[in-house]
Amino acid sequence: MVFCDIHINMANNTSKITEAIGLDIGGNSIKIVALQKKGGINTLTAYNIKKIPTNVQDSEIKNVVKEAFDEVDLHPTEINLSVSGPDVIVRFISFPKMTKDQLAEALGYEAEKYIPFSINEVFLDFLILGDAPADGQMNVLLAVAKRELIEARVKMVQQIGLNINVVDIAPFAMFNALVETGIALDEKKVYAFLGIGHVQTDILISVGARPCFMRQVQIGGKSIIESLSYKMGVSLEKAEEYILDIDKEKEEETLGFFDKVLGNIAKEIQLSFGYFENRYNKRVDSVYCCGGMTDRKEALGFLKQKLDVDIKQWNSFQKIKISDNLSKKDVDSVASQLAVAVGLALRG
Ligand SMILES: Nc1ncnc2c1ncn2[C@@H]1O[C@H](COP(=O)(O)OP(=O)(O)OP(=O)(O)O)[C@@H](O)[C@H]1O
Ligand SMILES: [Mg+2]
Repeated sequence: MVFCDIHINMANNTSKITEAIGLDIGGNSIKIVALQKKGGINTLTAYNIKKIPTNVQDSEIKNVVKEAFDEVDLHPTEINLSVSGPDVIVRFISFPKMTKDQLAEALGYEAEKYIPFSINEVFLDFLILGDAPADGQMNVLLAVAKRELIEARVKMVQQIGLNINVVDIAPFAMFNALVETGIALDEKKVYAFLGIGHVQTDILISVGARPCFMRQVQIGGKSIIESLSYKMGVSLEKAEEYILDIDKEKEEETLGFFDKVLGNIAKEIQLSFGYFENRYNKRVDSVYCCGGMTDRKEALGFLKQKLDVDIKQWNSFQKIKISDNLSKKDVDSVASQLAVAVGLALRG
């Protein structure tokens, strides 16, 4: 199973028409993106964002996924799926230079040094990233995901008649989506990619197109909704409605919750930037973001101010043709929530 294959070249110069489906099961909603590929051109043919009802049991999520496909009349047999969360670990390590086969064998003995799980409990993948600064060493990206997480997901989608083609780690799918859809990367510059969702914030830092750091922080929009629901004495659904109602004047007091949660997210981002800057002696030059939370203008403004950097929200449909039966305006309005699903569908 592949987790972390960083692929940058979007062109696929074959005249054969193929279709790939990205399925991103997030903490708040299920996202589906269907891309048709022909002669190096990707066309969005269908998409859906389906809210996961609050308090839904894990065993019922498969029904929500099925409904999400049925609603857009999509009936694939194979999909590309994202995984993320605490059971997914990514490490950037250096190893003596060796071949891919030698490294695969070495990691069989060595990987446990770098992960908090036994090797028997995980699926493992790796990528050689190139030469490390120290003589005779190379940089390696090691990715592992708990077997039980992957097996539960495989079982779940199989129960609704789907097979999995590729499993990708959500922050890497986001990275692929953003980079493949047109961000021009300068090999010497440092880029940070932020995905701020419902239950987590993904932080990926790359030098040019080469990822060097990745961290997932378990804070997102859910923390704001939970605090508000408690404070206002209303259900989670009501608190979420209140938050999403952009026309409503929010009380001074409730705005404090945004600032507190966003302040915590900003702190984690700052820590990550600091760690990267210390280790690589390079500063982050540009920051791109996606994820539902970044659709809030005030959230983006707050983070820009706290981090003292410019943060650009990226639309991952920039190089993707939108099928005539879909509205470009509608797609653009939810583009930042769909970045992970786009990255998955680009995997072919
Ligand atoms: N305009 C908006 N549209 C949708 N979600 C918004 C908007 N503004 C804020 N949000 C918040 O963004 C979050 C949803 O973001 P997103 O869809 O990226 O999360 P997710 O992918 O379901 O979760 P995760 O990636 O953390 O598992 C929710 O907490 C929601 O309240
Ligand atoms: Mg998400």
